[in-house]
Amino acid sequence: MDERIVTNHELETDTFEKSIRPDSFDEYIGQTDVKENIKVFVKAAKMRHTNLDHVLLYGPPGLGKTTLAHIIANELGSNIKTASGPTIEKSGDLAAILSTLEPNDVLFIDEIHRIPRYIEEILYSAMEDFKLDIIIGGEGQSRNIKIDLPPFTLVGATTRAGDLSAPLRDRFGIVSKLEFYTNDELAEIVKRSARVLEYKLDDDAAYEIAIRSRKTPRIANRLLKRVGDFALVEADGKITLDLVKKALKRLKINESGLDSTDVEYLMSIVEKFNGGPVGIESIASSIGEEVGTIEDVIEPFLLQEGYVKRTSRGRVVTEKTYQEFKINSQKTLFDYE
Ligand SMILES: Nc1ncnc2c1ncn2[C@@H]1O[C@H](COP(=O)(O)OP(=O)(O)OP(=O)(O)O)[C@@H](O)[C@H]1O
Ligand SMILES: [Mg+2]
Repeated sequence: MDERIVTNHELETDTFEKSIRPDSFDEYIGQTDVKENIKVFVKAAKMRHTNLDHVLLYGPPGLGKTTLAHIIANELGSNIKTASGPTIEKSGDLAAILSTLEPNDVLFIDEIHRIPRYIEEILYSAMEDFKLDIIIGGEGQSRNIKIDLPPFTLVGATTRAGDLSAPLRDRFGIVSKLEFYTNDELAEIVKRSARVLEYKLDDDAAYEIAIRSRKTPRIANRLLKRVGDFALVEADGKITLDLVKKALKRLKINESGLDSTDVEYLMSIVEKFNGGPVGIESIASSIGEEVGTIEDVIEPFLLQEGYVKRTSRGRVVTEKTYQEFKINSQKTLFDYE
């Protein structure tokens, strides 16, 4: 999915994202239930002078899991150490990270579902008893090493809570699902980002960006940046409603916020598979995307908005999709018979 403007993936090089990342609860817009609860738990941990319980954050990409993990550490007044599931390949990798922890530190593990199972087991005693219990050395001369760890908070993030093993999931005292954002919340996020970036942005322009952002802050911020480029180069720098509309047209993002990848996905079901039901593997090969990308990045928004449904026999597009593309669903069925 290279070059997709509304890509949900966090890019390694994305310093832009870091520059506009809120760093306190007050600046973190929306997710009210999750935020208010975690606020209480953070406060209680501080009052008790103990570590915060382990936190699992899950939900589609770009909704603010990494951001919230950093905010939790900030608000605790703790250091944050970060790791990512795929980079933890050996038990020694995890042991090395754990042994650097100081009391009440936050250890943030992104994509935690991708830690191999046998390494995951090391986490169990680390999380539960703050003990590092590993076997080192090869056959014949292996030794069991036990090290006491300071109390710490593990914050795990995942787009796939279902892929987490039950024993790991059960060791999180706080489990929070991040939800898609409302248009008002996204408009507020866009306005906040514009202030940080010192962009001039009209209110109605902010709202227009919001409604085209697939309910996702990361996408809202990316669109703001692109629109800001158009404003700078082709206008007087001011982001107006008219400018947003023109820019998004050139970026091929339609009025509902669907981009060419969404359209390709939906139209492939309509045109090649008669509207479904069709298995996800068939869609994947038809549009040349990975099954995982479809499930994690493309589908969550389309499912939530009711463009497509998951059934036991596969994906089916809904009437909303036919309306979106102004296709008569009945006629289409005959057309393709
Ligand atoms: N509640 C929020 N308020 C303001 N900005 C937000 C909020 N949530 C996310 N953002 C912005 O959106 C961007 C993406 O958020 P973040 O990187 O935390 O998402 P994520 O859930 O970790 O995604 P991924 O699953 O891809 O790792 C951040 O740069 C941040 O600026
Ligand atoms: Mg993240």
